[in-house]
Amino acid sequence: MVGKDLHVFDPGKISPQAPEQCGGLLFQLLEQKYKGKLDEKADKYLYFAVDGAVRMQDLIEALFAYSRVTTRGAPFDPVDTNLAFTQAVTNLSAVIKEDHAVVTKDHPPTVKGDEAQLAQLFQSLIGNAIKFRKPDIAPLMHVSAEEHEKEWRIQVRDNGIGMEPKYFDRIFEIFQRLHTHAEYPGTGIGLAICKRIVERHGGRIWLESAPGEGTAFSFTLATTGEDNDARDR
Ligand SMILES: Nc1ncnc2c1ncn2[C@@H]1O[C@H](COP(=O)(O)OP(=O)(O)O)[C@@H](O)[C@H]1O
Ligand SMILES: [Mg+2]
Repeated sequence: MVGKDLHVFDPGKISPQAPEQCGGLLFQLLEQKYKGKLDEKADKYLYFAVDGAVRMQDLIEALFAYSRVTTRGAPFDPVDTNLAFTQAVTNLSAVIKEDHAVVTKDHPPTVKGDEAQLAQLFQSLIGNAIKFRKPDIAPLMHVSAEEHEKEWRIQVRDNGIGMEPKYFDRIFEIFQRLHTHAEYPGTGIGLAICKRIVERHGGRIWLESAPGEGTAFSFTLATTGEDNDARDR
């Protein structure tokens, strides 16, 4: 190890909350310093080490996010889901622009819930709709909302690659993905987080899809929601 760089790896100096970042930084620094100076094999190993460390970090962050849905949820307040939707689209604006994606919506309702989590839910579903687009056409998404008795049913529909019905249950499980990381990057935790958020709000989430036919995710939110996890706290 190179003496003068050692301080960079002091976990206390990087961030006491993020020891998982240290490995990534170490490999990145090694790559910066030694890429092209050893042999080809060493370059390849350094590349895999950096890539693996970054993925591990993404995975750990996603697992924290999954756990925080129930441990750090905000108390329920009236939420204009238009605002949650707008927040999600703003956070995705770079990828929306890059992929020429078009997101349209009806007038999503006001419900009782956790605004940040509902924004995270829209962001995951719209983010997936863009990621799993067909390569040759612009991704189109539409968010619609309908009232059914005491609940709202909100749907996010896309014109992407779709999937076979046999995968409908599996994809909500943690780490379950239908593609390799090289085909589509991701951790396989997004939909598990979505399910947790919807269930905390007393709702259900499901989908309709077919290969090549696009996908429509629907979820329900009670018109006057109650925090499902508050009872356990
Ligand atoms: N809109 C979509 N169209 C097609 N497939 C999807 C869509 N959303 C999710 N999937 C499938 O479900 C899997 C799980 O999704 P998710 O939990 O968000 O993980 P990730 O996005 O990290 O792959 C994805 O890997 C993909 O195979
Ligand atoms: Mg995802």
